Amino acid sequence: MSNNPHEKIEKNVGLMAVLIAVVVSFGGLAEIVPLMYQAEAVEPLPGVEPYPALELAGRDVYVREGCYNCHSQMVRTLRFETERYGHYSLAGESVYDRPFQWGSKRTGPDLARVGGRYSDDWHRVHLINPRDVVPESNMPGYPWLEDRLVSAGDVTRRMRALQTLGDPYSDEQIAAAAEDVRGRTELDAVVAYLQGLGRHAPKGR
Ligand code: HEC
Repeated sequence: MSNNPHEKIEKNVGLMAVLIAVVVSFGGLAEIVPLMYQAEAVEPLPGVEPYPALELAGRDVYVREGCYNCHSQMVRTLRFETERYGHYSLAGESVYDRPFQWGSKRTGPDLARVGGRYSDDWHRVHLINPRDVVPESNMPGYPWLEDRLVSAGDVTRRMRALQTLGDPYSDEQIAAAAEDVRGRTELDAVVAYLQGLGRHAPKGR
């Protein structure tokens, strides 16, 4: 038996396993712990506010219909992504997204910067039957959204729940929600939600 500590460790599987765990977790902690204290990772970007009632309702429809199965909402920090979509996504943009919609599955394009790219009318036609505006599209149509009214009760309760979780909705905003969505269809709501995506992105790439 030599006195070389290295040899001792290499010949003792238990000790080696423990020391490997220490080294690996140190690497992990060094990456994760500073993130928890970094304001830019947990604070909203300037101007970022909780979703207005109609957009919040649209977001729920987006989740219900499973749009995330084909669309991500996260522009990566890669040149070809920022050339195509715009400024890469920042954590402070999605502090009020519960659950967030970053994703990685892209059968269709990323939607994090889609707001303002098309008119409301384009979105309406596209959502009812995508092939009317993009002939080669394989996105499904969602014609029923046009016939369903947004539920004022649901959106009010949703806002109250988010307020409980700490989202800064005022009581006045919640009280006005039912009026804000009165007579609006789920199609109106999804279009409003899509048009708001990327609103707070820094300008440029
Ligand atoms: C089966 C996959 C699939 C699903 C599910 C899907 N999409 Fe798409 N989407 C696509 C594809 C592919 C395209 C590109 C062709 C086109 O524009 O139609 C696209 C394009 C889009 C675009 C235009 C993006 C751009 O930058 O041109 C929007 C907006 C959009 N989808 C919204 C939605 C919404 C909202 C839902 C859910 C209600 C949804 N999609 C569900 C596949 C999908």
